[in-house]
Amino acid sequence: MPESLNPSAAPEALLDAADLREAGHRLVDRMADYLASVESLPVSTALGPRELARRFAEPLPVDGRPAAEVWDEVWQAVVPNAIHLAHPMYMGHQVAPPLPHAVLADAMASLLNQSLAVWEMSPTGTLVEAQVVRWLVELLGWPAGADGTLVSGGSVANLTGLLAAREARFPGCWRGGVAATEDAARAVLLVSGHSHYSVERTAGLAGLGSDAVVSVAERGGTMDVGALEDTLRAVRREGRIPFAVSATAGSTATGLFDPLSDVADVCAREGVWMHVDAAHGGSFLLSGRLRGLLAGIERADSVAWDPHKMMWMPMSAGAVLVRDRRHLDTTFQQKAPYLFHPRAGEERSGDTGQRTLQCSRRFDALKVWICLRHYGTAHFGALLEKTVRNTQTLHALLAAAPDFAPVHDVQGNILCFRHLPDPLRGADDARIDAFQTEVRERWNASGRGWITATVLDGRRVLRVTLINPHTDDRHLHALLDGLREVGREVLG
Ligand SMILES: Cc1ncc(COP(=O)(O)O)c(C=O)c1O
Repeated sequence: MPESLNPSAAPEALLDAADLREAGHRLVDRMADYLASVESLPVSTALGPRELARRFAEPLPVDGRPAAEVWDEVWQAVVPNAIHLAHPMYMGHQVAPPLPHAVLADAMASLLNQSLAVWEMSPTGTLVEAQVVRWLVELLGWPAGADGTLVSGGSVANLTGLLAAREARFPGCWRGGVAATEDAARAVLLVSGHSHYSVERTAGLAGLGSDAVVSVAERGGTMDVGALEDTLRAVRREGRIPFAVSATAGSTATGLFDPLSDVADVCAREGVWMHVDAAHGGSFLLSGRLRGLLAGIERADSVAWDPHKMMWMPMSAGAVLVRDRRHLDTTFQQKAPYLFHPRAGEERSGDTGQRTLQCSRRFDALKVWICLRHYGTAHFGALLEKTVRNTQTLHALLAAAPDFAPVHDVQGNILCFRHLPDPLRGADDARIDAFQTEVRERWNASGRGWITATVLDGRRVLRVTLINPHTDDRHLHALLDGLREVGREVLG
């Protein structure tokens, strides 16, 4: 052994069951206390990044310290200044307060640390994932022969689905690249005007170039199907080749759903791949009352669906699903004899790494599997319906108030609106937009609630995702009252 290597570190200390038991019990108690008292905390920190950065700047530790001390610091330094998604006044981005059994399942997944790249490193994990995929496929209403994998989230799911579309339309593109596949150089991807940026990013990553993305006009905040047909024709007249349409089910800004049945009609007629970015809205299939919003998704070729959004899973848990599994088999075409091992009698590789962008992949399926088995689809349906009911209630409150204005209808659990108190009547657009920004910043810094903002039709609007099922009417009234108060402060 080289002299510089230290032989004294006892390996058993690293895998100490007693240590895990003692620290684990203490941690779980603290986590439960946190959840029980989260409503008494400010929803998020009032400190800015610079002040917080100072608290975390310290030299690289050479000698360790007792675990209890380090964990105490987590509760003193990290938790109080975190953003608390479990607080019912958290109404921000589409990041969920996770279900308790999903949190525990994630700890279990870390303990087992199965690597989903290959079957032999996750003999049961691969099959648990396959079951979760079968359930998602069943909810989509797809026939036998569909498949998918869990991925890190909607961005990778969109990338994978659209890479599958590229290879399906331009076979050989994987090997020869876009330049060697003359047709692919003329490829066009049609998207909803409001699609998530990860869809356009796909075109860049796939070598098609972001200029290959053509945005279809909207009507009432969703894809205008007449415009889709016109755009397809226009693109073809230019000698370009539309290879896929990406529709959105639950758009990021407004939670609205593109008319998937109509989009499916057009795609079928035109022979174009239909991808649905249902990262947000896919979970609505779990509610009998809400699944109608996704009518037509059963005709899609590929779907992105994030259980880490509206199934209340902790990150990460995304899924990419393809109606015909053969397309997933040709999306990535590689051999890696150090990893992938064909097994005798196997019709198709059980090594899911051959069908995923990631190699090391967490056992994220475990939490989805446990939670579907424990809570059942009925419970998920009820939670989803509560969040949509809350959003409808908020819309009604805003519409009835003289000083607020919702800016679109409600389909899901996202809503954009403006605060327009009397002194702003007649003010110019820039002033009104700046006011929305100031109100949001003050409200979020107050610790009483947390919302987000976006730009719709060129105008700054406030935006909420009502993702916490513990949010109720009381909190919705508190939001309006609170925004009025900070609005008065802003106006001086
Ligand atoms: C519609 C939609 N698609 C894709 C994504 C990206 O998902 P992820 O952050 O899991 O990669 C989001 C994220 O908000 C989204 O709203």
